[in-house]
Amino acid sequence: MNNLCVLIMAAGKGTRMKSVVPKVLQPILDRPVIDYVLKSVFEAGINPENVGVLVGSGGELVEEHLRKTFPEELNVLWQHEQLGTGHAVKSARNFWQRYDDLIVLNGDLPLIKPESLKNFINGFGSDDCTVISFNAEDPKQYGRIIRNENSVKIVEAKDASDEELKIREVNAGCYAFKVKSLEKVIDLIKNENAQKEYYLPDALFLMNEKGMRTGAFIFPESEMQGINNHAELAEATRVMRERILLQWLDAGVRMPSPETVYISPDAKLSKGVVIMPNVQIWGKSEIGENSYIGSGSILTNAKIGENVQIIAYAVIENSELKNNSKAGPFCYIRENSCLEEKSFAGKFVELKNSKIGENSKVPHLSYMGDATLGHDVNIGAGSITCNYDGEHKNKTFIGNNCFVGSDTMFVAPVELADGAATAAGSVITQAVPENSLGVGRARQTNIKNWSLLHNHLKKPKGEK
Ligand code: UD1
Ligand code: MG
Repeated sequence: MNNLCVLIMAAGKGTRMKSVVPKVLQPILDRPVIDYVLKSVFEAGINPENVGVLVGSGGELVEEHLRKTFPEELNVLWQHEQLGTGHAVKSARNFWQRYDDLIVLNGDLPLIKPESLKNFINGFGSDDCTVISFNAEDPKQYGRIIRNENSVKIVEAKDASDEELKIREVNAGCYAFKVKSLEKVIDLIKNENAQKEYYLPDALFLMNEKGMRTGAFIFPESEMQGINNHAELAEATRVMRERILLQWLDAGVRMPSPETVYISPDAKLSKGVVIMPNVQIWGKSEIGENSYIGSGSILTNAKIGENVQIIAYAVIENSELKNNSKAGPFCYIRENSCLEEKSFAGKFVELKNSKIGENSKVPHLSYMGDATLGHDVNIGAGSITCNYDGEHKNKTFIGNNCFVGSDTMFVAPVELADGAATAAGSVITQAVPENSLGVGRARQTNIKNWSLLHNHLKKPKGEK
């Protein structure tokens, strides 16, 4: 693998997607197409400084994405005019000409596995150009592989004869070139074809003409499908989703209906985890051993400890649920919130930037925003923090062993010291000292004989 570089072509217009989003930024699960290609390249053992990505159409967006997602050593190269794959490789000449070997990959090849890429890189040998081919069930618009005794050439579907169109072995869009050999033909590629484009596959034909050696390795179709339209994007998503699900089923995760479950390629699950139907797990979510994720839950960048119970329909974003905590059904836990060990956020509860201390409970119909709760706190049903005064987000501190009566409003900033309590229906605007009861409500007055004075209330319906 000495002195080898990889060039990924991601500058194309992606016309067939009919979308303003550049093709390589279209999502498969929750990552763009290009990320899968790069991930495979890196996992195959290629260092980012030896990898170049050609951007062009929608290139600002693609470059911005690459810069914020991948190491800065990754080379972002520009093809300002998109005149075809041959032109693309030529415009990156400054990048690849200092290497001995060049691997060129289509940017729309997200299903290629790192092991396959590694096998290809280790195995391409001394031919001037080797390509990956596959036997396509439906060869569609793929370039057809025409094999001769010691060489291979590629004919694009739009330029192929009826006989050639019958060939099912097609070009996958992954090439290994000897740089010295490529140098001899790259300027000779012409655009005299049906699409008026400079085709990279023509390099093989030109090499053959000069007596150089070309060959093709056949790889499985399941890894080599290109993405040119939304139907192909959906199919690639299906394949990738199944691969990820099988990986976790193999690792000891139980899913009674995997066909309804979505898991990001970046999520990490542990053995003994149970994922019920219609769950989505996105981003860098992590789930510890023996945790249960109930139906309909959506987790994004959620850190779930061990033995956590998410009963059903919980939405959890950028938050942590520690060991033995419990959530749901129907709760929304977001923006850096944390359920400490053995704590509980129950029915119709929203937590935002809040910490629920060990063994504390927020069981029903509450909003805790910018709040910190100590251990062994009980929050009565319907209690909320009034954390936003229209300008600032203010904090609520609730100490250890506090008991909050139902329907308490905490007008933040406000604090309850350890062991404090609030009376049900209180509006708490001042600190409640240790072990004290805060009562912040109007006293009840009973008006005698009120019903008798309002006789109409007693009359049966319809009577005047
Ligand atoms: C290409 C191959 C075809 C092969 C197929 C495999 C050519 C001419 N044809 O066809 O033989 O069977 O891939 O999927 O190469 N790109 C650029 N700059 C350009 C043009 C394209 O960077 O000027 C990039 C695209 O972003 C894409 C890749 O090159 O990632 C391939 O281009 P695409 O238009 O998808 O080629 P196909 O028609 O699929
Ligand atoms: Mg393509």
